[in-house]
Amino acid sequence: MRISGKTKVCFIVADPIEHVKTPEKFNALCQEEGIDAVMVPAHVHSDCLESFVKSLSSMRNLAGFIVTVPHKTAMSHLCDQLTADARCAQATNVVRRTSDGRYHGYILDGKGFVAGLRENGFEPKGRSVYLVGSGGAASAIAFALAEENVALITIFNRTVKKAEELVLSIKKEHPNIEVVLGSNNPAGHELVVNATSLGLKNDDPLPFDTGELTKEQLVADIIMDPSETQLLKKAKSLGCMVQPGLPMLNNQLRLMIKTLGL
Ligand code: ATR
Repeated sequence: MRISGKTKVCFIVADPIEHVKTPEKFNALCQEEGIDAVMVPAHVHSDCLESFVKSLSSMRNLAGFIVTVPHKTAMSHLCDQLTADARCAQATNVVRRTSDGRYHGYILDGKGFVAGLRENGFEPKGRSVYLVGSGGAASAIAFALAEENVALITIFNRTVKKAEELVLSIKKEHPNIEVVLGSNNPAGHELVVNATSLGLKNDDPLPFDTGELTKEQLVADIIMDPSETQLLKKAKSLGCMVQPGLPMLNNQLRLMIKTLGL
């Protein structure tokens, strides 16, 4: 990759950062497509996110940020403008810096996730979904699935209050869809999604009770590294269909480049 004075820069902001897969993929795609841009990893602690982001608004060759765990929700509050879906999900994973130094926030995770499901032969319309998590990625996925007219979304999260808030906000936007709070047991749902950060570390506990999983269920994980989490290993051993985290990223790379104006 050739970096010159004309190269546009974007940062991927995360904590931890070592596991992120986006820089390799994004930079390879830019090179392949002849786009003069580079993505650089930025390991930023939550306490410093605001000062980091604000200090860069005067950097004229900054295209923007890609945002991941745990900053998606916090970043949405630092943007000058949000798309309607980012506002609903209260999360952003792509932030474009405008020529006058303002930040516009977008959320592409949900679209990437749904595109990955379809690649895997799973049509979401009319399905019942069990979703674990209520952070930025979980909200984005929940809203994207609601847009696709799933029949039911059951939400389970460690912090129950956040799950309650997510249930209410989806119901408000999509009154025709049944959205309920669930237990840690995904029995009876066709699609089971881990949208928490559990699984990033090998010794993390499983995000929900896998005891009653059946081979009719598709179990999806948003964790990209490891590509096969303990959850997916367990689900496979029980005969379930599985979907790893990478398709969610692969299906939004081109859109990220376009959204950043590159
Ligand atoms: P992202 O923006 O990537 O979704 P996030 O907003 O920090 O990241 O959300 C992380 C999600 O993983 C949340 O649902 C979080 O649960 P809480 O709302 O209770 O914090 C979940 N999570 C993280 N660590 C967890 C743990 N050790 N056990 C259970 N859930 C966990």
